[in-house]
Amino acid sequence: MNRKSNRHQVVLVTGASVGLGLAIARLLIHEQRHAKLHLVLTARPKSLGRFRSNDIVERDGLWIRPLDVTDSQQRHAVVDEIESKLGGVDILINNAGVAYRSCVEHVTEPERLHQMNINFRSPLELARCVLPGMRARRSGKIINISSVGGMMAMPTMSVYSASKFALEGASEALFYELKPWNVSVTLIQPGFMRSDAFEKVPYTIKSAEASADPANPYHEHYHHMERFIERAMHRAPATPESVAAKVIKVIRHRSPPLRVYGGIDALLFSLLRRILPRRFYNWFLYWNLPKIREWGTR
Ligand SMILES: NC(=O)c1ccc[n+]([C@@H]2O[C@H](COP(=O)([O-])OP(=O)(O)OC[C@H]3O[C@@H](n4cnc5c(N)ncnc54)[C@H](OP(=O)(O)O)[C@@H]3O)[C@@H](O)[C@H]2O)c1
Repeated sequence: MNRKSNRHQVVLVTGASVGLGLAIARLLIHEQRHAKLHLVLTARPKSLGRFRSNDIVERDGLWIRPLDVTDSQQRHAVVDEIESKLGGVDILINNAGVAYRSCVEHVTEPERLHQMNINFRSPLELARCVLPGMRARRSGKIINISSVGGMMAMPTMSVYSASKFALEGASEALFYELKPWNVSVTLIQPGFMRSDAFEKVPYTIKSAEASADPANPYHEHYHHMERFIERAMHRAPATPESVAAKVIKVIRHRSPPLRVYGGIDALLFSLLRRILPRRFYNWFLYWNLPKIREWGTR
């Protein structure tokens, strides 16, 4: 974090009204006590009321703005206002995201595009809006919230993984592209976070039908994976607050790394992927899927 410059560092956070985004917002507000930060917390228009419910209101050094990340006009409106009144975005935190639960056979093209639009296309579009300013100032940070799902894929989470793999690939390229201008790119990779986010996981139209119909050939896939993910999230040692603390560390770091593990599970999966021979890795994960012998028995 730049504590010497007289200019306040402007931090733009997407999806900041709940979950990890809200935890990041709270820690950033705390950080304002000893660092010169101007926060721009954003949420979809329908979710803006949550800030007030969480005692977060506008004041000097804290703006609250509507931003549906998939809406080009809203993206430009926020970034243009920041550029004209505050001199530009110094730190962009692309946190907003959704995670469809669906097997590949149950995702339609519009649903696939919707998932990719929120988790992959929109973070890059926002980066494209703020990058000319960062390059001109020769400083900046792009922090993209990825996932363990961006390094390994789980059944029933196909399009989610595709979106995070895409985000990882583009961010890795961006890391090299922006180094010459002293602009850093960091992927935060949370594994399971102890939260109720699994209750909000949307199903596609067909995956909802399959999940509810015991006669559907994929019913066990959904049934066992849903229970497994729910249990894993209830027991996860990582919380939105612990992952948010890692984001703050990245903000403070002069030269942050490309990838930061969000928790111990992310570190373990990354080690497994690197150490185990590829065939054995896939075999090992397959046979450890919950009640795998019951899958596909219909
Ligand atoms: N929860 C986990 O275990 C976990 C694990 C790995 C990675 N992650 C990643 O962490 C990030 C935050 O997730 P979370 O766990 O905090 O989930 P969450 O509680 O469901 O929060 C998701 C946030 O994204 C926002 N959002 C969704 N679509 C949006 C759009 N079109 N425009 C703007 N905002 C939008 C939501 O806003 P609304 O409230 O308006 O819908 C909400 O603020 C995501 O990128 C997610 O993929 C989460």
